[in-house]
Amino acid sequence: MIRSSFARSFCLLLSLMLLATALAACGGAKTSGSTIDQIKKDGVLRIGTSPDYPPFESLDDKNNVIGFDIDIMTEVATKLGVKLEIVQMGFDNLIPALNAKKFEVMAAGVSVDEDRKKAVDFTRPYMAGNYAIVVHKDFSGKVTKLEDLKGKTVAVQIGTVQADDAKKIDGITVKEYNLFTEAKSAVSAKQADALYLDGTVGDAFVKADKNLKVIAELPAQPTAYALRKDTPDLTKYITGVLDEMEKNGKLDQLVQKWFK
Ligand code: ARG
Repeated sequence: MIRSSFARSFCLLLSLMLLATALAACGGAKTSGSTIDQIKKDGVLRIGTSPDYPPFESLDDKNNVIGFDIDIMTEVATKLGVKLEIVQMGFDNLIPALNAKKFEVMAAGVSVDEDRKKAVDFTRPYMAGNYAIVVHKDFSGKVTKLEDLKGKTVAVQIGTVQADDAKKIDGITVKEYNLFTEAKSAVSAKQADALYLDGTVGDAFVKADKNLKVIAELPAQPTAYALRKDTPDLTKYITGVLDEMEKNGKLDQLVQKWFK
């Protein structure tokens, strides 16, 4: 009698423990996989970008969005087994739109910036480079840092770290444009003295516009993808895909394709 009631309680305890473990496992899987589950259910990964920033993202002659970021995100979508949808808007609208759930990933050559970390989470960086100052070929004068542009007009895109940096320097007149391509055209047409942007993009603009030259290279923040704070499973997943692409050489292939 004592034995069997002990056995019964033991059995009950064991079943309760198993139930608790099973429930914990279900609950755990649900919270940790919820964004990815939803994306798989919808069959689509939505990314937001401002396609004015070659070779990260730009428009081809048929107005398709192409670039390094797009190839990486295509790889992520393929791995998830879903299609990629690209939402386009000006760079300054991207963080609000991401947080308003218009898309899940901001893929826009985004600099990892402490201020932005208050609003979004970042994947691991996938690019480290420099920022650049680009001027018209006719520009003369020595420029090695932003301060050397005092008294000059600097063209940037609204909402970028370059806009913030330039505004911090007294004596620089900052001209902000919706698109970096517009800021570039302004310098090319001598409507602004200098363009301040990511170095690889400066190189791409200079290659395509013979009026321009790079005059200085400055230290930069790394580049990563920004995601909502409530989608940590997806942030982790993309970091994992980047790790894998680094190991299997795919990341390097894309660097060769877009940056050389
Ligand atoms: N790296 C800079 C930043 O994060 C500029 C990014 C601009 N990107 C773009 N797709 N227009 O502020």
